[in-house]
Amino acid sequence: MPRKIIFDTDPGQDDAVAILTALASPDELEVLGIVAVAGNVGLDLTTRNALQVVELAGRPDVPVFAGCDRPTKRRSITGAHVHGEGGLNGPDLPPPTMRLQQKHGVDFLIDTLAAAEPGSITLCTLGPLTNVATALARAPDIVRRAGSIVMMAGAYFEVGNITPAAEFNIYFDPEAADLVFRSGIPIVMHSLDVSHRILTTPERLTRFAGLGNRCGKAVAEMLNFSQTFDLAKYEWEGAPLHDPCVTAWLLQPDLFGSRDVNVTIETNSDLTLGMTVVDFWQITDRPRNVTFSHAVNAEGFYDLLAEKLSRLP
Ligand code: RIB
Ligand code: CA
Repeated sequence: MPRKIIFDTDPGQDDAVAILTALASPDELEVLGIVAVAGNVGLDLTTRNALQVVELAGRPDVPVFAGCDRPTKRRSITGAHVHGEGGLNGPDLPPPTMRLQQKHGVDFLIDTLAAAEPGSITLCTLGPLTNVATALARAPDIVRRAGSIVMMAGAYFEVGNITPAAEFNIYFDPEAADLVFRSGIPIVMHSLDVSHRILTTPERLTRFAGLGNRCGKAVAEMLNFSQTFDLAKYEWEGAPLHDPCVTAWLLQPDLFGSRDVNVTIETNSDLTLGMTVVDFWQITDRPRNVTFSHAVNAEGFYDLLAEKLSRLP
């Protein structure tokens, strides 16, 4: 039986690769729906981008919903400096033809979890945690029926990418992240500590471009665009690839090394707002609320992505 999942996402080229890899794996993953959230760019664009990605994969059967258009408490920030003004810059994708669902994405999360067997649905978050936190605030007992949250967020050794102390998905809405990390829902967290070890080298992007299908070509064009900022910033042989860690873990968890730790979110200090304070060495007796990935097999990760993406149109 495939694992039932819901994506919560702010596409974002790396979000797109995570979603495409999942849509290429129908025997392992049943994507019940995709909920867009404001993050890398505004909700109008992340929603459009999500529709484009689903159609690129030839899967208009997967419903797309619009969620929250701003953080729960603070002003929005943007990731357009990395992802482009449209959020999915790179390929020239046609405007979406499939319709956006009318139901609000937060209502979809609540209603779907309410109707499902407890523990049977995995929430896969690729962006800020605003939608999940809003659902938790509105219907905590229902949302706690989620089996787990598998997320790309935060960091320990790599610390921050949008500030010296914070990773973008957390920093966009720290209060939402705090609510989610305190919810008691089991969390599997893939952070900058792994995404900084799986770089989009020229050989890897050439491999995607050479898959012989439209999705491989589009993925290469997406990542060729989104890597520009990080190549200049880090001066590495490639750029970090963040969100597909979520899908890769679902498909092949042995690609990752992890440990159960406490992760607590900084929501007060101006200097370290949005920091994921990871008790990696288990110094405190804080509850171990997170399975934290700290190692990854990069070659195996890219082999998995190439194999899956090759199955798409
Ligand atoms: O910090 C990386 C995260 O921020 C990724 O999810 C990327 O898509 C952006 O949302
Ligand atoms: Ca994202």
